[in-house]
Amino acid sequence: MTQDVYLTGITTTGTPHIGNYVGAIRPGIAASKDPRNNNYYFLADLHSLAKAEDPAVMHQSTLEIAAAWLALGLDTDNAMFYRQSDIPEIPQLTWILTSMTAKGLMNRAHSYKAMVQANEESGNKDPDKGIMMALYSYPILMAADILMFKSTKVPVGRDQKQHVEMTRDIAQRFNHHYGDVLVLPEAVIDDNTSVLKGLDGRKMSKSYNNTIPIFEDEKQLRKRIMKIKTNSLEPGEPKDTEDSTLFDIYRAFATEEEVKNIEKKYAEGIAWGEMKQVLFEYINDHIKPSRAEYQRLMDDPAIVERELIKGAEKAREISVPYIEEISHAVGIRKLG
Ligand code: TRP
Repeated sequence: MTQDVYLTGITTTGTPHIGNYVGAIRPGIAASKDPRNNNYYFLADLHSLAKAEDPAVMHQSTLEIAAAWLALGLDTDNAMFYRQSDIPEIPQLTWILTSMTAKGLMNRAHSYKAMVQANEESGNKDPDKGIMMALYSYPILMAADILMFKSTKVPVGRDQKQHVEMTRDIAQRFNHHYGDVLVLPEAVIDDNTSVLKGLDGRKMSKSYNNTIPIFEDEKQLRKRIMKIKTNSLEPGEPKDTEDSTLFDIYRAFATEEEVKNIEKKYAEGIAWGEMKQVLFEYINDHIKPSRAEYQRLMDDPAIVERELIKGAEKAREISVPYIEEISHAVGIRKLG
């Protein structure tokens, strides 16, 4: 059997939150402890440009997300850990793939369609108003991330599944035209964690401003968790775990047995205040041992920078020869 290559990225648009933690960072770190695995984890800073962030915000976000991965225990000797923009072969591949991507395929991307719909609903004459090419082509850059390292498994949230499917479409078309050069990936979606709900019950996302940052101090963390939306059931009244954001977040962290135990407490009518306390303690216990290391890295970004340089050097040992092979396949070749 051929070995799987796991790859996932986090867009550098804000402070890392517990959705990033349970969805990408925690499983990624666990996988990095097994030497049989081949793992690529990266900071998708080129993707963040599609959201036209403030340069200072994106720079700070890159540091925070990298420091979070490292502080929480990523073994960078057993994983490729790099910044997307340090791998020039990725934008190079993006352009090659762009020439094999049907415009119609991009028209169907959910994120693009949602923006068009918003324009139409607000009565704009131009359905493409405010939509940059980077947003429109976002799935092609993501395809390049994935295909650059022959990834076979891509752990992502449900909202990103379409992008991985588009990657397959693009790769298939490429291979059909130029020969078997690219490897078709598949999305890996963990239903317990892949789309974590935020404070207001919608998907936890920087764009909704409803996140729980991983490395807040204890007081802030408690305050934030106390704000999670519940319903008006009184203590003692049996509660439904379905549609309970508190339960969803707890389940994303806890073991099966702990979850069973909490289900019982819901049925017995645990008070919302008590459940919030349980969740706070659970998350806090998880994060506590890494807080000091996170702070050390934030205070000395040069340590983080060195890790990223090391990661990029390792990753380019793969991407440099492979982009040559891909370029050769499309006819970009030495003349003599
Ligand atoms: N688009 C992903 C997100 O917003 C981040 C990302 C960029 C990514 N490139 C990737 C995820 C490649 C997996 C593989 O969550």
